[in-house]
Amino acid sequence: MLIALCSVKGSPGVTTLAVALAMTWPHAESMRRLVAEVDPSGGDLAMRFGLPAAPGLVSLAAAARRTRDPAVVWDHTQALPGGARALVAPPGGTHARAALSTLATAPDGPLLPVVARDEGVVVFADCGRVDPGSPAEAIARCADALVLVIGSQGDDLAHAAARLGELARWTPRPGLLLTGDGYPTVDVERELGVPAIGRLPHDPAAAATLTGHRPPSARRRGDNGGLARHAAALARTLAEPATPIASPPATMPPGVPGVPAQQVRRPGGVLISPPGLGPHPASAPPPQVRDPRHNGHQPSSAGKEQRA
Ligand SMILES: Nc1ncnc2c1ncn2[C@@H]1O[C@H](COP(=O)(O)OP(=O)(O)OP(=O)(O)O)[C@@H](O)[C@H]1O
Ligand SMILES: [Mg+2]
Repeated sequence: MLIALCSVKGSPGVTTLAVALAMTWPHAESMRRLVAEVDPSGGDLAMRFGLPAAPGLVSLAAAARRTRDPAVVWDHTQALPGGARALVAPPGGTHARAALSTLATAPDGPLLPVVARDEGVVVFADCGRVDPGSPAEAIARCADALVLVIGSQGDDLAHAAARLGELARWTPRPGLLLTGDGYPTVDVERELGVPAIGRLPHDPAAAATLTGHRPPSARRRGDNGGLARHAAALARTLAEPATPIASPPATMPPGVPGVPAQQVRRPGGVLISPPGLGPHPASAPPPQVRDPRHNGHQPSSAGKEQRA
């Protein structure tokens, strides 16, 4: 299974989510889980988890010129905590983009989707920000599911609205995942005209663990901001066959085909949420002032090229 994760603006937590899904994937012990940094602006995992820059995306691109055996992908991965593997990209976009372009434009298609066809394999392709013309698009278009991660402030929604229609056509199972505080989920769904597949809470403590900045053992009581729980619920949803969880009533705006409706406001005001994804406040007024501590998180710009 290939799951593409991407953003359209800022740093809403795509890489963090990829690691969280790999760690919380159902029956993880019997699955080969791979977080593949196919972000053309460069990678963060090597730096975050103290891994060497190679093997990784660049060495795989070189090897893929010599062999088209998909098994070669695993030779270029490294171990992440919790048993998953990582295909790390170099920091900085120049080398990452070049390697990615080589992999994505192979005459017989990119290797990663072939690896992901194995029943015992799940690949989380961290596509980063999918600007038009991104070389990651070729990989995202082969995915079984695509998760667009966005913040919940007005500017985040405006950027998402501009790309949503296009991204929804890339895979059979596109999904919109909200992060952090901002507009209530129901307002976002109404404005964008699609149901969200969930909403990740602002949880700096869990994020610090998932980005290698804090060992799991450093977790203190009362630290549980819910990110791991929400990621596990999302992992269960993605691992299921693509059947809708709840059918939206006729009065709902049209959803994206294949997206399991995760939170549907029925006319009577009852929220339907999957297990583990609690309802979000729908009555709070939209925030007027952007608070950087609570939206889209602090961007991780280390080693990244500035994007226009
Ligand atoms: N749910 C969360 N709560 C709080 N902080 C978070 C959360 N998710 C991610 N972060 C923090 O936000 C920062 C950016 O996260 P991450 O690198 O995952 O974003 P990204 O979308 O991959 O960014 P980029 O496009 O720059 O690669 C990190 O410092 C991370 O610890
Ligand atoms: Mg990232």
